[in-house]
Amino acid sequence: MARVIAISNQKGGVGKTTTAINIASCIAASERRVLLIDMDPQANAGSGLGIYQNSELKSMYHVLVDDLPLLDVVQGTELTFLDVAPSSQDLSGAEIELVSTIGRESRLKDAIEPALAEYDFIIIDTPPTLGLVTVNALTAADSVLIPLQSEYYALEGLSQLLKTTSLIKKRLNPRLEREGILLTMYDRRNNLSQQVEKEIRKHFEGEVFKQVIPRNVKLSEAPSYGKPAILYDYSSLGSVAYIRVADEILSRYPNGKDVSISRKQVMRSVRIEDEGASLDG
Ligand SMILES: Nc1ncnc2c1ncn2[C@@H]1O[C@H](COP(=O)(O)OP(=O)(O)OP(=O)(O)O)[C@@H](O)[C@H]1O
Ligand SMILES: [Mg+2]
Repeated sequence: MARVIAISNQKGGVGKTTTAINIASCIAASERRVLLIDMDPQANAGSGLGIYQNSELKSMYHVLVDDLPLLDVVQGTELTFLDVAPSSQDLSGAEIELVSTIGRESRLKDAIEPALAEYDFIIIDTPPTLGLVTVNALTAADSVLIPLQSEYYALEGLSQLLKTTSLIKKRLNPRLEREGILLTMYDRRNNLSQQVEKEIRKHFEGEVFKQVIPRNVKLSEAPSYGKPAILYDYSSLGSVAYIRVADEILSRYPNGKDVSISRKQVMRSVRIEDEGASLDG
């Protein structure tokens, strides 16, 4: 049964999508079957893995609003073990369209059910709001991973998010745990980053990932090539950091497999396309 992890923080631009793409890819490189569900109408998680919107594309909008089976919208990626359920702009309308639906908070949970046996991990990227779409993600999840930008205002939105998650735990999803807080865009030379880290670790003892994610330009470049960091530049600081975070997560859910996410392993996990067609033509 898949472990379902929602990546959430209603604050914009804190690294949710970057984290979702890279954690999903690193875990997939270790030969666990991973599904990345893009629940943000901005659809950046899909495009960051080379899946682009077009009018024919069936997306999470159709799953949530039209009851299309989740597995019908799933697409493969460059990594053999990584699939994506893409989003589309329509999803922003889902907030309103779902309001009058029965079981509106658990649409995603119901949709995910048949996929649980197909994957080892399901990672959900969420939009920068605490609206119905995010509530659906938190209701479907086993845990929430909170990326927190290492800056002064980081803590401001956090209490609101924690309030929302405990409310969802109480009312809608008693299973919901905290996977952890991940410090993102960390700058070692900056005193402020260090202060924020110290404060957060003190406040949330044992709940903060040991590894922090540095501010690293390769992480921001990679999505425009439709690639996760491990395929764009394996040895960049950002890539290495996300590999370590994936290792921290995998160490919590051992499944007998012990595959280290080495460069060789990453290359091995790239999908070999069937070249028959191009050879014929
Ligand atoms: N560690 C990092 N180093 C450098 N740039 C980063 C890093 N993490 C994210 N970025 C860049 O910062 C911007 C915001 O990141 P991202 O899209 O992952 O945040 P988000 O929380 O998903 O945003 P939104 O709330 O809009 O969904 C992007 O341009 C991304 O490429
Ligand atoms: Mg995002």
